[in-house]
Amino acid sequence: MRPSIICHMSTSIDGRLHPSRFTSAAAGVSSAVLRGHYEKIHESFGADGWIVGRKTMSEMTKGSERAIPNAPKVAREAHLGNRGGEKLAIGIDPSGRVHYGKDNVGGDHAVAVLGEQVSDAHLAELRMDGASYVFAGPKGDDLAGAMERIGSIFGVKKLLLEGGASINGAFLKHRLIDEFSTLIFPAVDGVAGTQSIIDYHGPEGDRPGAGQARRLARHLKAEWSGCVTPWSAHSVEAPPSSKETAAHALAKRNGKRRCAETKRGFLQIQHCSLVTARLSIAAIKSRSLPRQVGNYCCRDY
Ligand SMILES: NC(=O)c1ccc[n+]([C@@H]2O[C@H](COP(=O)([O-])OP(=O)(O)OC[C@H]3O[C@@H](n4cnc5c(N)ncnc54)[C@H](OP(=O)(O)O)[C@@H]3O)[C@@H](O)[C@H]2O)c1
Repeated sequence: MRPSIICHMSTSIDGRLHPSRFTSAAAGVSSAVLRGHYEKIHESFGADGWIVGRKTMSEMTKGSERAIPNAPKVAREAHLGNRGGEKLAIGIDPSGRVHYGKDNVGGDHAVAVLGEQVSDAHLAELRMDGASYVFAGPKGDDLAGAMERIGSIFGVKKLLLEGGASINGAFLKHRLIDEFSTLIFPAVDGVAGTQSIIDYHGPEGDRPGAGQARRLARHLKAEWSGCVTPWSAHSVEAPPSSKETAAHALAKRNGKRRCAETKRGFLQIQHCSLVTARLSIAAIKSRSLPRQVGNYCCRDY
């Protein structure tokens, strides 16, 4: 079965991708602390591993290409290295351009998602490294099939998709994102044309998110070390039918608000506009419900 996939990203307030381009943190606010928030939320998901695109994975690995003469010709079947109970570090690499040099990335077991077109020498290199690999069809573009295979081979249930922009766009187009987790740093990039956290490269006029709706599921204004970093999680679902839209409008006119605290202590807000969400939270606050959410304490909404 395909694992559930959460696209977990940090961004500037203008939605851009590259932290190195962001304006610097304000006096008294450490950028290391801001980056630490991303890791804390990453850990809090308790996911079985993470996925990145080929370019991002290339920046994280230290291996280099090795000449392997007379590499055996092997069938294009999944290969399992020794995972040793570690989380998975999955790189989507259709042409076999990432050189791991070892069986892990930062301690997590390396898994290459490849096109069947890759060379036997590259497969031999991955096996020598102790890495695992699975195939995503002849060209490496069957992302849905690869995710199904990873789910059944490794028995993983939840994975984080962590960029870059292109691979996030491809997963969006293939409807493989079940939730967006977005951390907004107090910074801007501001330059037109710089990459955003989701950049789909497809035919003109194509809308990669068509047929999917986002619902604000949880949000926090988390305060750490004197700085403020808002975080939100949006679940993905089918858009409402016109009948449902009419029923929702009626319920709203009648003043019925569907806002409740979930078992895990998150605020479940089932309205689409922020204004309505804030009203609903105010209603919750007035009933003095606990405000401790996971590792984070919401002092103020
Ligand atoms: N803000 C953050 O927290 C954050 C997080 C992650 C990354 N980043 C940054 O993002 C940058 C890289 O982002 P990126 O968008 O340029 O690259 P990317 O998403 O990391 O990788 C894109 C590559 O993935 C491969 N790919 C496989 N299937 C694909 C498909 N269906 N559609 C598109 N690509 C597919 C392609 O490799 P081939 O070219 O080999 O075919 C493609 O070039 C890095 O500089 C990294 O530091 C920032």
